[in-house]
Amino acid sequence: MATEDMVHEGETVLVVDFGAQYAQLIARRVREARVYSEIVPHSITAAEIADRAPTGIILSGGPKSVHVDGAPEMDPKVYELGIPILGICYGAQLIAHQNDGTVGRNDRGEYGRTTMKVDIAGSLLSGTPGEQTVWMSHFDAITEVADDFTITARTTDAPVAAFEAPERGLYGVQYHPEVGHTPFGQHVIERFVHDACGAHADWTMASVIDTQVDLIQKQVGDSGRVICALSGGVDSAVAAALVHKAVGDRLTCVYVDTGLMRAGESDQIVETFERHQHIELIHVHAADRFFENLQGVTDPEAKRKTIGEQFIRVFEAAKHQVEGAAYLVQGTLYPDVIESGTAEAAKIKSHHNVGGLPDDIEFELVEPLRLLFKDEVRAVGTELGLPDEIVWRQPFPGPGLGVRIIGEVTPGRVAVLQAADLIVREEIHNAGLDREIWQAFAVLPGINSVGVMGDERTYADAIIIRAVTSEDAMTADWAHLPYELLSTMSNRIINEVSGVNRVAYDITSKPPGTIEWE
Ligand code: XMP
Repeated sequence: MATEDMVHEGETVLVVDFGAQYAQLIARRVREARVYSEIVPHSITAAEIADRAPTGIILSGGPKSVHVDGAPEMDPKVYELGIPILGICYGAQLIAHQNDGTVGRNDRGEYGRTTMKVDIAGSLLSGTPGEQTVWMSHFDAITEVADDFTITARTTDAPVAAFEAPERGLYGVQYHPEVGHTPFGQHVIERFVHDACGAHADWTMASVIDTQVDLIQKQVGDSGRVICALSGGVDSAVAAALVHKAVGDRLTCVYVDTGLMRAGESDQIVETFERHQHIELIHVHAADRFFENLQGVTDPEAKRKTIGEQFIRVFEAAKHQVEGAAYLVQGTLYPDVIESGTAEAAKIKSHHNVGGLPDDIEFELVEPLRLLFKDEVRAVGTELGLPDEIVWRQPFPGPGLGVRIIGEVTPGRVAVLQAADLIVREEIHNAGLDREIWQAFAVLPGINSVGVMGDERTYADAIIIRAVTSEDAMTADWAHLPYELLSTMSNRIINEVSGVNRVAYDITSKPPGTIEWE
């Protein structure tokens, strides 16, 4: 794999992860300030940091107390590098603790929205009100800082809510500037990255495209042929468009129609890529093969495996049509990169991506999105001229509607689900909620119930509507859709989709539920 060298060169803010829930959010906020940021583990040494020569460093929050055995520390030599450092929550406590300050063990914590009083605006808080709301989530509290630090703000339970020693390039905030509940949080992050670190706001999607095009050209060379499996999702679409910009007609896309796509989706993909983007596309009609292999398969994991396996077979057959292809595009995103670099998480589901290809695949991977968050991928897509229908398409699982049908997947059941799903998506769109809702779709739970329609007894399928809000799919809340909207969806589904006589709404968040039903 030659993608390791596809790293960002230029101004970087490193976010040192101390086990925070919010490390990714911090990195994203820095990028919103148009400065590139990357997450690194807290085991990183000062020498390794010096090697990277970052423009600034942010120490994240974390669940531990600096007083417990084994609490993660920062290599203290980092404070001598002359690189500005901002500590957030645990990160701030650590800066205080490692620089002759005191972190006290409170008898109670401070959680949620809190009013903070700013005594001295200093450099970080300058331009923000004397009294402001901040989001707190801590038990210990900094009680003292060394003489060369200035305490700039306090709350009732945090005598040192913010401090700084600008001459030393050290800054700390006990609260969470990265969360939406801290109104002046982004301002503080921007003060840090732009003013304290002096970073330029030049991480734009146009610059990302230029850099990646350059890197792809270097990787693939003058004659290499590249293939890309399009899944219909935004990631593979944007990755393909980016690679196309770099290598032109040396890219061939393969689109496998599994028969498990949403209504109208296959046509739209083919239309967009062939006709609008002028990208060579091999359209494999493989629905029959998928349905054949799914006969009698009801266990969710077995279903996922069957679909994944068939996908690989079909893809491997198609790739022989592209003579001399040596490179394979994958739409791997930064959160996947971070996750694969962290401790094993319990396997909840075996995710099938288009990239769920076998280990012995004989291609070199091209992963032009591996530094990007989802919202950045969308912005790159728009910048590359992809239509909104592709760029703003909701995430869609690799196994498609197969994991939204409980029990056996048959063409008939897929057709019922597609019709109901289309209504859900149309009504979300009509209500102007496309961008607020992370995913909205229909599920066929395989339950029949008794109903009455036109004085006749019915015994037919139920449809479950699932709609969630989320930032990253790791956690999600069920969307509080207006009753009127739910009512319209329900009426339309029952009237327009034959074989359905009941509609229910799923009000489970993640956790404990997952977004998909299987
Ligand atoms: P769950 O159901 O695990 O889903 O809460 C989290 C997000 O991942 C999507 N998903 C998948 N995406 N291959 C994918 O590429 C898969 O096998 C897969 N399974 C779930 C799901 O739609 C949600 O956005």
